[in-house]
Amino acid sequence: MNLPALPCVLLLITTVHAFQYTELAKYIDSHQEEYVEALRDWVAIESDSSNVLKRPELHRMMEVVAEKLRLMGGAVELVDIGEQQLPNGQKLALPKVVTAVFGSDPAKHTVCVYGHADVQPAKLEDGWATDPYNLTDINGNLYGRGASDNKAPVLAWMHAVGAYRALGMVKGPKQDLHSGVYGGTVIEPMTDLIGILDTLISPGGKILVPGIREAVAPLSDEEWRMYQDIQFDLDNYKDKIGVSQLMYANKVRAPPRKRAE
Ligand SMILES: *[C@@H]1O[C@H](CO)[C@@H](O)[C@H](O)[C@H]1NC(C)=O
Repeated sequence: MNLPALPCVLLLITTVHAFQYTELAKYIDSHQEEYVEALRDWVAIESDSSNVLKRPELHRMMEVVAEKLRLMGGAVELVDIGEQQLPNGQKLALPKVVTAVFGSDPAKHTVCVYGHADVQPAKLEDGWATDPYNLTDINGNLYGRGASDNKAPVLAWMHAVGAYRALGMVKGPKQDLHSGVYGGTVIEPMTDLIGILDTLISPGGKILVPGIREAVAPLSDEEWRMYQDIQFDLDNYKDKIGVSQLMYANKVRAPPRKRAE
């Protein structure tokens, strides 16, 4: 994104209720089609922030984001952050920053989630196999501009919040419970959260989500040979970013993965 904006911010004031995973998973599965349709609608909006001719689409995108958050019951604002000056001196309105707040209890912790809903340019001539603004399902994978960066992640947060709200799960004990008095009697939101996070990744960085590794093609011998020649100096890299250790100690595994779109 080349705009100085975070066009979408969600604020959740909440504690987490005892985690009813099965109920949540069932709800999400039964709404899968609706979630994909929402992504299809969003991908169809050409909110390319680098193209001044597409600016109306970018404004429309932010209106669509705001409307969805309003329908979810959030307190929504579209915040005007002024104008952008183009190299030729012309001024152009920046997209509004959308904020949405759910809940208002100052005694509760606030989780802030943010993301952007603009996209980088995408043209068929750039090498797209399908129309970038028409979400296309190929073997169960969804292709479209913004499908991974970053419309789907923003929508995923919204749908997660929507699911929790629909199931009445976004609540915890009605008062602070001192561990010296109540410890061991209640199902505690923080331990739920630690438990969930602990199932996602090992201390060594191995992703533990079932099936995720099987979904990735193994490195072929040819790829392995090709990567041996990469110009990438591990020590230099560590110096540059100021760390003493990386996740992997060899240059084939270590280079940062570029986000795929
Ligand atoms: C999107 O692609 C599908 C499949 O090729 C096509 O049927 C549909 O008309 C396209 N939609 C738009 C809006 O271009």
